Amino acid sequence: MKAGYLQFKPVFGDPEANIKKIIKLTGRKKFDLLVLPELANSGYLFSDKKELTELSEEIPDGKFCSALKSLSRNKNANIVSGICERSGNKFFNSSVLVCPDGKIFTYRKIHLFNTEKKWFTPGDLPLKTYEITVRGSGKIKIGMMICFDWIFPETARTLALKGAQIICHPSNLVMQYCQRAMFTRALENHVFTITANRTGKDIKKDGGISFTGMSVILSPKGEYLHTGSKNRDECVIIEIDPSVSTDKKINPKNDLYKDRRKMFYRIH
Ligand code: ACM
Repeated sequence: MKAGYLQFKPVFGDPEANIKKIIKLTGRKKFDLLVLPELANSGYLFSDKKELTELSEEIPDGKFCSALKSLSRNKNANIVSGICERSGNKFFNSSVLVCPDGKIFTYRKIHLFNTEKKWFTPGDLPLKTYEITVRGSGKIKIGMMICFDWIFPETARTLALKGAQIICHPSNLVMQYCQRAMFTRALENHVFTITANRTGKDIKKDGGISFTGMSVILSPKGEYLHTGSKNRDECVIIEIDPSVSTDKKINPKNDLYKDRRKMFYRIH
């Protein structure tokens, strides 16, 4: 199947410009699954609640979601995107899976990073996997996690144990660790991972924040199938065989799932 990411610098506060950029960058490309960065509609660095209210939207009927729906339909492809979500009087740092048949599924970031705690309610939905239909590959299970979720190995592990073959990872990374750490998340779970990071800076009068680009796609063996540029907008699509992820063997005698010694794990 054809899977990949779109890396760009969302314009803070301009969801319409961001959707235009996404449509332009996808151009004539063909793909079955595309992952976009975290908060791709709004940008990252909020100054006040008014901004957050104006830039967030309800799922599934908001403008950004509707635009993703038509892109998904036009491309006959599944799209995962970070989105600034408003639900009642709460705000979530969320991602959506938009399928070509019009179905939309939501994940809300469970591990909020730093000042995100000021703006967002921590995710209140279970980590789940979703079956997508892909021409030539049949039904594929994917999971979603968002940016800083990577540092809690339980997140990717839970998705993998629930059958995820591909972990879609919209991100706004500010540190340098994640791109290297995703080697371990992919290898320890034998899954594909697609980290779609953003580039550039969000600048406000009282400070700014820079993002590290270098989106990465890893194989279940921990191979870097693609590493993106630091600064450029890019839409990178590669061919992967998701069935490879169902084999959890490291060697003939070790199976990553069957060899787990759950009685020794006290993680609550
Ligand atoms: C992050 O979670 N956006 C660093």
